[in-house]
Parts: sequence; structure tokens; C-alpha cells
Amino acid sequence: MFDSGLGGLTVLETLRARLPTEDFIYFADTAHLPYGDKPEEVVRARSLAITNNLLERGAKAIVIACNTATAAAAESLRNAIEVPVIALEPAVKPAVSLSRRGMIGVLATTRTLYSRRFERLVQTHAQNARIFAQPCPALAEAIELEGAEGDTVRALLDRYVRPLALAEVDVVVLGCTHYLWVMPAIAARLPKEVKIVDSGEAVARQVEKRLQEESFLGGGGAFRLATSGDPASVGQTIQRLCGFAPDVEYWRI
Ligand code: DGL
Repeated sequence: MFDSGLGGLTVLETLRARLPTEDFIYFADTAHLPYGDKPEEVVRARSLAITNNLLERGAKAIVIACNTATAAAAESLRNAIEVPVIALEPAVKPAVSLSRRGMIGVLATTRTLYSRRFERLVQTHAQNARIFAQPCPALAEAIELEGAEGDTVRALLDRYVRPLALAEVDVVVLGCTHYLWVMPAIAARLPKEVKIVDSGEAVARQVEKRLQEESFLGGGGAFRLATSGDPASVGQTIQRLCGFAPDVEYWRI
């Protein structure tokens, strides 16, 4: 699995709960965070390099635990490699079925929201719903730097969530894995009845299904975490976000 940073750990948690005997390697591309404000070619090149490295280490499937990398690279990865690629993307389809008023907000990175893939996702699933797409520059990075309670995080959430409340959306899609870390703060800025959805469970189901189809299920329940950034500070960030401090390896990719 990989993400630009630690957002995908929220997905890893869901995956490990569903598939406790699988072995997981999680790569946080911290040295290149944020993906959301980078050109598409850069995110695609990083995704390919990381995927090749994970395959060399024996990965039997690749999970793109990052909506931005999915938008930029899922198709190229699927064309380039043989093993299953499971790619997370904003939960627009479930949001449409949950919505009563057909007013849906999507919080995601600029790169995700301006991608062809997101445009197609909306064309395919929005039906008559109105989609309010709210780019959130700098938010993922601030969450990693400050944790969920930081001043910059609060200010950015005020700026990005308020327009959705004013638009009277009744469902909000968390279209970036980092935003799950601040879900309560997002909920606090919206009327109580607004539902918030993400793609973690759907991805976990999909991973299980693909592994079953390939007869790939089974492992020892091991877990490795690596980063392109500074392992000590990544460890501290994990401690702040998740309350535990795992071993973090440095990989030059
Ligand atoms: N966590 C990533 C996502 O799901 C992107 C954050 C970033 O690097 O901008 O889109």
C-alpha cells in the first residue's frame, strides 16, 4: 500500500481488521507530500516507482491508499503490472444513494478534483445530484505537521467546510485519506444530520474479493511501515495521530 504520507493508515486499519492474516507493507511517500498540489506526471512517476519497489519486495497486490495517486496513476499502473491494483477513489456513488436532497459535497485535493477520472466518476454516478467539489490545498500537509487539533488545520477546515454547510449539502464525501483524521472536526462544522462517507470499507471489500479471485489469500499478519522521509519524525506523527509508535524504515525510492 502507499500514500503520499500517513492518510492511508486509516485505510490500512480497515484492511487489517478485515484481513488480519494478510501481510501488509505500507509506504508513506513523505518526502513528496503533498501529492495534491503536484503535477500529474510527478504523482504518476512516484506511484510507478513505489509500486515497482513494492513488487520487488514480493507484493502480491497493490493498494493505492490515496485518492490523488488513483486519479493520476491507477490506469498506468494497471497497464504496467500484472498483479491486482486496488485503487481508492471518492465515494460519490454511495453518497448519491445516501443523499435525500441530492446535494453532495466532496472534500479532496485539487489534483483529485480537477482530474479526468473525477469528472468521469461524477458523470457516471451523480445522476441528478448536485456535486459541490471543494479543493482543500495545504490541508493534508497541515494534518501531518500539526495533528488534528492544530491552528492551521482549524483555520483550513473553517475555510473549506463552511461553503459546504452554506450550500446545504446533506452528504459529504471525504475524498482524501488524510481527512479521516479530522472527521470529528469536519462533522462539528456541519449540521448534525449531514452524513459523512469515505471509501475505506469499500476498498477493504474489494481487496478481499480480488485476493480471493486470484487465490492469493493468506499470510502471517505481519506489518511493515516505510517512508521516503525522516523515519523519526514520521514515527512521531504516527504517535500523534494514532497514539502508538511503530518502527518506521527509511527507503530510498
Ligand atoms: N492522502 C491523499 C489523498 O487521498 C493526498 C494528500 C496529498 O498528498 O495531497 O488524496
